[in-house]
Amino acid sequence: MAPLKITVIGTGYLGATHAVAMAELGFEVLGLDVVPEKIAMLEAGRAPMYEPGLEDLLARHVAGLPGSSGRLRFTRSWEEVGAFGDVHFVCVNTPQKHGEYACDMSYVDAAFESLAPHLNGPALVVGKSTVPVGSAARLAAKLAELAPAGADVELAWNPEFLREGFAVQDTLHPDRIVIGVRGERGEKLLREVYETPMSEGSPLVVTDFPTAELVKTAANSFLATKISFINAMAEVCEAAGGDVVKLAEAIGHDERIGSKFLRAGIGFGGGCLPKDIRAFMARAGELGADQALTFLREVDSINMRRRGHMVELAREAVGGSFLGKRVAVLGATFKPDSDDVRDSPALNVAGQIHLQGGQVTVYDPKGMDNARRVFPTLGYADSALAAARGAEVVLHLTEWREFRDLDPEELGAVVTDRLLLDGRNALDPARWRAAGWTYRAMGRPQA
Ligand code: UGA
Repeated sequence: MAPLKITVIGTGYLGATHAVAMAELGFEVLGLDVVPEKIAMLEAGRAPMYEPGLEDLLARHVAGLPGSSGRLRFTRSWEEVGAFGDVHFVCVNTPQKHGEYACDMSYVDAAFESLAPHLNGPALVVGKSTVPVGSAARLAAKLAELAPAGADVELAWNPEFLREGFAVQDTLHPDRIVIGVRGERGEKLLREVYETPMSEGSPLVVTDFPTAELVKTAANSFLATKISFINAMAEVCEAAGGDVVKLAEAIGHDERIGSKFLRAGIGFGGGCLPKDIRAFMARAGELGADQALTFLREVDSINMRRRGHMVELAREAVGGSFLGKRVAVLGATFKPDSDDVRDSPALNVAGQIHLQGGQVTVYDPKGMDNARRVFPTLGYADSALAAARGAEVVLHLTEWREFRDLDPEELGAVVTDRLLLDGRNALDPARWRAAGWTYRAMGRPQA
């Protein structure tokens, strides 16, 4: 039996990583993107975003690169994609609609509408994007209507759970594989794709379309709820004089609770959790089940409150007003090991302080270009030390390793005041206090 040929539509975080992972598993892969610059970068072996390990894998597989397997190619032609693939993975993004909670399905719809007319023979189309429940059924009908091969084209839904910063690892070694199918052929083909070294030790959950779609939004909602829960505890700790870091450690020892995703601070951001909980609420409303998810509104508002709280702490720290005050901001990305600044709590806090008259200087190890694009009026420096020069307060807002390794003495020598606010509870208070810094964290006693 000839090995399956795979296409991957959309080459963002999800698509680029999935495409190269499929090539790593031995499949012939053709990736499609509508943005020519992205294709050019990938063909040169460069990742369109910072993601540890991704460029090494591209170097191993992109056709035309010296010593590569040649199993991964890219194109902009839908016709070529239609003719090439047995299995087509749709990996385009589903952002939040402008000014609304709902999810913008226009990229997914466009991908299906562009692909379907080129499906002239048996094929499996696999949706991986995060979509509102009910989308798969609607898209299956679209395929049936538009694909010349008709019933020979099947749809499956196969949500992805990768985390930015660990995308390669999570894709090659997923902790579970979920597939939503209607027919036997879809399941058989996806088993052929995944019953490779990739699924060793990973449970395969086979279910229907709506459940597969819901698994993804439920998982992200649970993670968001866990973070907002611990941030709510941080608020109570602040009021009562408790320590949320100790509290998280102690409750985390209970295996039913677990210690992960209990880091209190300025909250969650990024291109997934915030928009996914909002889209989930919007969809539940359409289905008449909005009451079931009203708690997510609270999860969202606790989360947004954390950013405002950080701004307040910083304002108090500089004497009640930011006017004329120099504020150093360490971190711009929504989390470390990523260059992604989408809905970043760090950049949001920096922006609020800037809008209140503070002179903000931001440094981030990988997110500078994206931060400058999103917020060009902020000040930027090319090192933590340069950002801190002359600062009256230093805010630690994204927990990069580089910031944990900073020398408090060296930083102390360039600031005006040794005043540090740790928005991620990730620095060692004793180390900073020993160097004469006033160290303040979120949800912890001030000492
Ligand atoms: C998230 C999920 O973790 C992935 O499983 C999912 O596949 C992905 O969304 C997606 O839907 O594509 P990601 O957005 O990469 O992944 O980031 P996370 O690691 O989940 O972190 C999200 C945010 O929560 C970050 O801003 C992080 O700083 C914050 N966070 C995380 C906390 O504030 N506290 C914690 O304890 C953990």
